Amino acid sequence: MLEYLYPIRTYLIVSGTIERPNVMTADWVVPLSFNPPMCGVAIGHTRFTKKLIDEHKEFVVAVPTIELLKDVWIAGTVSGANVDKREKLSITFVPSKKVKAPSIKECQANLECKVVNAIETGDHVFYVGEIVDVSYGDAFKTGSPDIENYKFVLHVSFGANFTVNSSEIYKP
Ligand SMILES: Cc1cc2nc3c(=O)[nH]c(=O)nc-3n(C[C@H](O)[C@H](O)[C@H](O)COP(=O)(O)O)c2cc1C
Repeated sequence: MLEYLYPIRTYLIVSGTIERPNVMTADWVVPLSFNPPMCGVAIGHTRFTKKLIDEHKEFVVAVPTIELLKDVWIAGTVSGANVDKREKLSITFVPSKKVKAPSIKECQANLECKVVNAIETGDHVFYVGEIVDVSYGDAFKTGSPDIENYKFVLHVSFGANFTVNSSEIYKP
């Protein structure tokens, strides 16, 4: 039934540490509060990411553009439980400012989150994160996303079906 909520933006969730990072793809990311800034992500019980977030109580929400689609797909189809995904990915992990979970250099924003709540939601856990720091690239240098020059990843429907934002703006 959740297919009717799509298309949805797609993000990368980084967990672990700079020495042993893990990254998974997530559509189920949601803004929750301006002050303090908070966002949430629903992570399946079976994900290695869940184990790492439970251990470290931190994660980073990284914002990819379409150039990273191959990495987005690998991060979303391979589990870090058995494989070090760094061997398969072309992205670069860099230290974050306030959390141990690293950021991704090639992403246009990295939201550093500390877990303040975790709610069981069926087969997922909804982690509420306070955003304690952020870094961003040129796509956000004016304060709003530059949709003329940067194409953000949109997941059209379950499976390998993606698109990007259009650069058209509609005013109500
Ligand atoms: C486009 C896309 C979106 C996804 N969104 C989510 C999500 O929001 N929550 C989730 O738990 N898994 C999601 N997944 C599945 C995980 O990314 C996938 O199971 C991944 O291999 C888990 O990696 P890990 O075991 O290293 O944490 C998504 C996968 C794809 C391809």
